[in-house]
Amino acid sequence: MRRPFIAGNWKMNKTPSEARELVGELKDMVSDVDDVDMAVCPTFVAVPAVVDELEDSDIMVGAQNMYWKDSGSFTGEVSPQMLTDLDLEHVIIGHSERREYFHETDREVNMKVRKALEKGLKPIVCVGESLEEREEGRTEEKVAFQVWSALSGVADEDIPEVTIAYEPLWAIGTGESASPEEAASTIDSIRDIVEDISPGAEEKIRIQYGGSVKPHNIEDFISRTTIDGALVGGASLTAESFAGVIKKCQ
Ligand code: G3H
Repeated sequence: MRRPFIAGNWKMNKTPSEARELVGELKDMVSDVDDVDMAVCPTFVAVPAVVDELEDSDIMVGAQNMYWKDSGSFTGEVSPQMLTDLDLEHVIIGHSERREYFHETDREVNMKVRKALEKGLKPIVCVGESLEEREEGRTEEKVAFQVWSALSGVADEDIPEVTIAYEPLWAIGTGESASPEEAASTIDSIRDIVEDISPGAEEKIRIQYGGSVKPHNIEDFISRTTIDGALVGGASLTAESFAGVIKKCQ
């Protein structure tokens, strides 16, 4: 049985003080939740404040990105050891905004996934198709390629440590989510790919849906047995709405 996993991706929002205030409110609101895995992913600069504020909470902390090198002359980058040193457990890798605005490639996503696992971080790997690709009937082909690429060279025993977030690009930040049927169908196709890569892992790996998830629609997704939770953007930016999403997954 896979535990539901709700992660909040704050993107480039919240100063360290605002971040501390948000999780200070959130941890009280979800203190009675014991059957849902919860995580927030602040910006790097807000991570220490959030980790400190959540010391006595079950809410986990993740990063939004990392580099695949251990250290060195890579100005502006953050290594996996810097994240584990702060006790982070998760790291989002290959979000569509990083792929689009920062030209992150499938090869780079794969290098980051493998390095994260090597260092004990659990990657949340984002995949998803554009509107054009969906309209051309290429959704499954696109996400299959992204999943194959991301998991290339990953040991069988590490695959269940990965979470895949299926996020159709056209549903991100638009207020127009995929239908639960569309999301479940694509996620089923992702499970088939994971089975091809590592038979049996499709039963263990968690696959989230992401794209305009709100307290009012999360139940439509989480009620599908193949959907294990959500990667939440906008609705994770207030304690009330993120707690609303989490509580509906209990
Ligand atoms: O990482 C989160 C996704 O990009 C979804 O964002 O919930 O604002 O649509 P959203």
